[in-house]
Amino acid sequence: MARHLITSAIPYINGIKHLGNLVGSQLPADLFARYQRARGNEVMFICATDEHGTPAELAAAKAGKDVADYCAEMHDVQAEIARGFRLSFDHFGRSSSAQNRALTQHFAKVLAEQGLIREVTEKQMYSVTDGRFLPDRYIEGTCPNCGFDSARGDQCDNCTKQLDPVDLINPRSVISGSTDLELRETKHLFLRQSAMRDKLQAWIDSKTDWPVLTTSIAKKWLNDGDGLQDRGITRDLSWGVPAQFDGAPWQGMDGKVFYVWFDAPIEYIGATQEWADKTGGDWARWWRTDKGADDVTYTQFMGKDNVPFHTIGFPATILGSNEPWKLVDYIKSFNYLNYDGGQFSTSRGRGVFMDQALEILPADYWRWWLLSHAPESADAEFTWENFQTSVNKDLADVLGNFVSRITKFCRSKFGEALPAGGEWGAREEALIDELNTRIRAYETFMEEKEVRKAAAELRAIWVAGNEYLQAAAPWTVFKTDPDQAAAQTRLALNLVRLYAVLSAPFIPDAAQAMLAGMQTEDRSWPGDAKTALQLLPVGHTFTTPEVLFRKIADEEREDWQQRFAGTRG
Ligand code: 2FM
Ligand code: ZN
Repeated sequence: MARHLITSAIPYINGIKHLGNLVGSQLPADLFARYQRARGNEVMFICATDEHGTPAELAAAKAGKDVADYCAEMHDVQAEIARGFRLSFDHFGRSSSAQNRALTQHFAKVLAEQGLIREVTEKQMYSVTDGRFLPDRYIEGTCPNCGFDSARGDQCDNCTKQLDPVDLINPRSVISGSTDLELRETKHLFLRQSAMRDKLQAWIDSKTDWPVLTTSIAKKWLNDGDGLQDRGITRDLSWGVPAQFDGAPWQGMDGKVFYVWFDAPIEYIGATQEWADKTGGDWARWWRTDKGADDVTYTQFMGKDNVPFHTIGFPATILGSNEPWKLVDYIKSFNYLNYDGGQFSTSRGRGVFMDQALEILPADYWRWWLLSHAPESADAEFTWENFQTSVNKDLADVLGNFVSRITKFCRSKFGEALPAGGEWGAREEALIDELNTRIRAYETFMEEKEVRKAAAELRAIWVAGNEYLQAAAPWTVFKTDPDQAAAQTRLALNLVRLYAVLSAPFIPDAAQAMLAGMQTEDRSWPGDAKTALQLLPVGHTFTTPEVLFRKIADEEREDWQQRFAGTRG
């Protein structure tokens, strides 16, 4: 039995994520986790909420809540929605956990012991009224480029120019509106990534099987401009993992916390410890190569914007520690999903958000469309027309129709049990051959995390059964040769179970409904299709399932198109 550690990039706590976020990390990670479990392998599937940093502080302030309370509430909201999408995490953790705090501080300490941390004094905006340093996003002012009066300290939302807070005209504090700002000296810890350049380069170069999207981004960061930069890993904030702790090898870090991107990936380990503390499980055999993790295959899933932090930042932490931590084996990254002629926008409420999606249709409809259109080789686009077509054709016409046709036919002619009599002939052998070829291809695509190709192969497997049924036409054969019609029906009812098993990673609820209909919990993965298609024996009873997938009507589609065009409300 192989062992798979699987992590999804951990979503920011501030607000509900849109479908583009979902398809870029959590959903494909879930697909892979479900597939590996279905193959009988041991899986540890981890995700969490990313709770520190300025966005969390700002969102809490906007909601008029204490930041810790806000994070606790939003974690529960995100966990509930994840359950709604059937994301099968072994644990959905919180980066603000005690476990992550201890781990983050541990890593900082050992990195310092390895000589990889240096102190840097720099000048930063300080608000006298607020009594604190202001991160870039906490400062607003007039854009020197376009005159927009609410440009942020890091960027102007109007003309998109990247800014430095000192560039702003009439800068003011976002917290209090105060203009009593001054540049003050502040000290920060920097991780000496530059000292690890060769190590990181050799490691990336050894990953010849990684997606080009992943390695090209990593190499760009390693070789851009002056080469790999040292990175500030502390911030002047109060919300986060304190950069001051017992035995810290540096002084003067009071009131500072670690940068959110330093502690977030460490939470992959932190969440596994949270899981262990909750269940009595053993986290170390997943993460410590001296405790058995050397036979673990570790796969990470993320959007392309997260790649630098996972190919450089987090590996620098792991490698730099000089401790036997498990490094990632494969990074699967995704391009962006756009929304109906533009971008998904959290701030403008443009596009479909995870909670809204579940309000209008069950999870499987979304899972199928998103995964079968995953933005792998390029950015992809969600359109309502395409969504309607995919659901109506793939799910309702092909898979749903197959299940309903054969169960209803059997019920009306033979009753709700697999009928006896007849033998398989050339048509059945041809179908079995095709299924064998396609199932092996499907397995390969799933192992390779080629999500779209796997979906296409699964669809082809459904189509093969539909075409068989259409050509065999047991409803016609029954009139002249009921025995042969019985043999065809037995095969097709077994195919329902086989489809449930193969489809479960993509559409788990429909798969469960199909198995329930077939009155079996036998989820054994098919070796030879011929054997798999004889698993339910003559006389095995079933119930005719309800409609598996309903069609989307044109009026509904138009209605949704309008409803999600902008400004969530
Ligand atoms: O981009 C994001 O949504 C980040 N919160 C991802 C963090 S992934 C990891 F580092 F934990
Ligand atoms: Zn501007």
